[in-house]
Amino acid sequence: MRAKKVAIWFVIIALLLVAGAAVTIVQIENWQFRRNAEMANYEWSGSQESKVLVAYFSRSGNTELMAMEIAKHYNANLVHLEAEDYRIGFRGLLNALKDSQSHHAVITPEKVDLSRYETIFIGSPIWWYSPAPPVWQFVESNDFTDKGVVLFNTFNSRFKQKYIDLFKEKVKEKHGRFLKHIYVKRERMPRQIGPQELLEKVRFELKELP
Ligand SMILES: Cc1cc2nc3c(=O)[nH]c(=O)nc-3n(C[C@H](O)[C@H](O)[C@H](O)COP(=O)(O)O)c2cc1C
Repeated sequence: MRAKKVAIWFVIIALLLVAGAAVTIVQIENWQFRRNAEMANYEWSGSQESKVLVAYFSRSGNTELMAMEIAKHYNANLVHLEAEDYRIGFRGLLNALKDSQSHHAVITPEKVDLSRYETIFIGSPIWWYSPAPPVWQFVESNDFTDKGVVLFNTFNSRFKQKYIDLFKEKVKEKHGRFLKHIYVKRERMPRQIGPQELLEKVRFELKELP
C-alpha cells in the first residue's frame, strides 16, 4: 500500500516537472519571438534582378534573422515558409516535438517559381538533430534543376551530420547541386547568444561563400 502511494506521488511529481518545463520553454520561445520580431525587416523585398533566393522556416525568429541577413548580403529575394502547425505557443511546440523527424509538413507557399534563380538558400531550425520538416517539404515540392543549394540552420547545441547528408541526397534527387551547409550555434540557456552576436556569426559564415 505504501509502495503504491510512493509510486503515485512519483508520477504526480514527474508530471508537474514536465508541465513546468513545457511552460518555461513556451515562455522563453514567446519572449525570443517578440525580441526577434522587433529586429526583423518585414519590408525587405530584394532586387528584381537577383539570382539568389532565400527560403526559410522559423518558429521563434532566430533562423528568420539569419535568413534576412543572408538576403541583405546578396540583395536577394526572401520567401517565408509558413507552417501553421508549428506556430509559436504550446500546441506548436507539441506538434514540433511530435513531427521533428518527419520530412513532410503543410507549408505556404509550397511551390515557388525558381526559374530565374541560380542559387537557393534554404533555412530552418534544427529539430531533433535534423533540419525541420517544412524545409524537407519545400525541397520535395520543387524542382532544383541547374540550381545551387545552400542549407542554413540555427540550433542550440548539436545537429547530426547524417541528416545533413540525407538533405544533400534529397536536393540531388530533385536535380539540385548542394553547395554548402552553413549554421549558427546559439548555445543552451543561460549561455545563449543574443541576436547581435547571431548576426555577427552569420556575417562570418557569409565570408566563406562566393
Ligand atoms: C522541437 C524542437 C527540437 C529541437 N531540437 C534541437 C536539437 O536537436 N539540437 C539543437 O541544438 N537544438 C534543438 N532545438 C533548438 C532550436 O534548433 C533552436 O532554438 C533554433 O535556433 C530555433 O530557431 P527558430 O527561432 O528559427 O525557430 C530544438 C527546438 C525545438 C522546438
